[in-house]
Amino acid sequence: LASTATAIDEFLGCLSADIPSGLIHTPATPAYSALLLSTARNLRYILPDTSKPLAIIAATEHAHVQTTVRCGRRHGVRVRVRSGGHDYEGLSYASVHLHKYNEPFAVLDLAALRAIHVDPARAEAWVESGATVGELYYAVGAASHSLGFPAGSCPTMGIGGHLSGGGFGSLARKYGLSADNVLDALVVDTDGRLMNRSTMGEDHFWALCGGGGESFGVVLSWKVRLVPVPETVTVFSIVRSRSQSAIELITKWQEMAPASPQELYLRVLVLNQQANFQALFLGRCGGLHRLMQDRFPELGMTEQDCEEEPIPRDVWESIWTAWLEKPEAALLMLDPYGGLMSSISPSETPFPHRQGNLYQLQYYSFWYENGTAAAEKRMSWVRGLYKEMEPYVSSNPRAVYVNYRDLDLGTNELDGDVTSYDKARVSWGDKYFKGNFKRLAAVKTMVDPHDFFRNEQSIPPLPAAK
Ligand code: FDA
Repeated sequence: LASTATAIDEFLGCLSADIPSGLIHTPATPAYSALLLSTARNLRYILPDTSKPLAIIAATEHAHVQTTVRCGRRHGVRVRVRSGGHDYEGLSYASVHLHKYNEPFAVLDLAALRAIHVDPARAEAWVESGATVGELYYAVGAASHSLGFPAGSCPTMGIGGHLSGGGFGSLARKYGLSADNVLDALVVDTDGRLMNRSTMGEDHFWALCGGGGESFGVVLSWKVRLVPVPETVTVFSIVRSRSQSAIELITKWQEMAPASPQELYLRVLVLNQQANFQALFLGRCGGLHRLMQDRFPELGMTEQDCEEEPIPRDVWESIWTAWLEKPEAALLMLDPYGGLMSSISPSETPFPHRQGNLYQLQYYSFWYENGTAAAEKRMSWVRGLYKEMEPYVSSNPRAVYVNYRDLDLGTNELDGDVTSYDKARVSWGDKYFKGNFKRLAAVKTMVDPHDFFRNEQSIPPLPAAK
């Protein structure tokens, strides 16, 4: 791609042949900044020194998406897709490597493509990528009191990115990821063609359902399977401080939560030196109460011998003292696997973290002070604790969930005109996708051999046979 000023003008001209000018926003147009900010979830990436898109196309029709991809291909302008803007590293609206690659990009914003059609009789729904997860929950709840959809907890996430990367939430132990429940998808491929599951083929479809956003085309819409849920579910939120045995509880939770019946999802949020045990139980209060009495009666009462625990008690003790008591301490989020998650094969979808994984651990910092010093203090806390956890977490590779994007793992480098497969595999590919990475690259080779859809951690094509 050679994105010169002329190429950019030609790109904009190409767009305007099919897309109303009111939907094409450049830095010179009044609505540009507000639109850029509208779903930019990570404010670190809208600071003045971040690379901004040369245009934002606010698509209102599927044809606008096709035109944008075709014009981008024709005139050498890359396209980043944004659905809900929740990418941890802001890759849907900013580029940290723009200057390195010298690749201006446009953003295709799908927020206006948010239609949802629920068919309760078939227990299915079609949902467009620009809808939020909360909107889908609402629509399903309005159509039926006995159906749900397994997805994440944050209601403002976009369906597009969330389903592209997996989609983990409180129903995962019973029904798996969102991606495990995708039945079909409507995609604009690298040539601007519309594809569905039967026309794109099973490999391409497999890659879309968990292979991470951006790499395999623009998903316009998803057909999903809805799952049965009881009309009444029970939740609780119990907070325990260190003096109320929070450390012992976390230590026990590590084995108890992943081994619980599939109906129970019990997670821990560690914040402000307190452990908050949050449960969702697919059943009534009596059943949950009996289960907790049986499996976790102490919830703050009994000390345990932790020698054989995944993270021994004394390690939790030292983490607490060395990290959680610091003023810049952030949130630790511990989400259990197990249940159905363990019986789905690691190659069923690109998400490979199935049997053998007890729980995921997330380090989640937020701050409101301006300036790099404040940011650096929080970031170094996160990086320090991340390093400290190394002996206790998955290794060879240290596994990571692609929807919890982390550019610290490494970023893509070019090998000729395409992204280097070998470098991507070693730096981040094996960590997100383990044995599925090569298959994802094979799909990429098939559907986007020129590597048009790319970003700092997009799937590369396989290297050409030497
Ligand atoms: P965004 O629009 O930023 O896109 C993310 C990536 O997907 C980008 O690379 C983008 O280019 C690409 N993409 C977006 N739409 C696409 C489309 N239609 N076609 C192709 N590519 C597309 N995860 C989880 O599993 N469980 C959870 O509970 C949570 N909770 C949570 C809370 C909060 C506050 C945040 C910020 C994030 C989470 N996440 C999460 C992570 C979330 O699943 C992840 O960031 C998703 O990619 C967000 O999807 P969006 O569409 O909002 O992101």
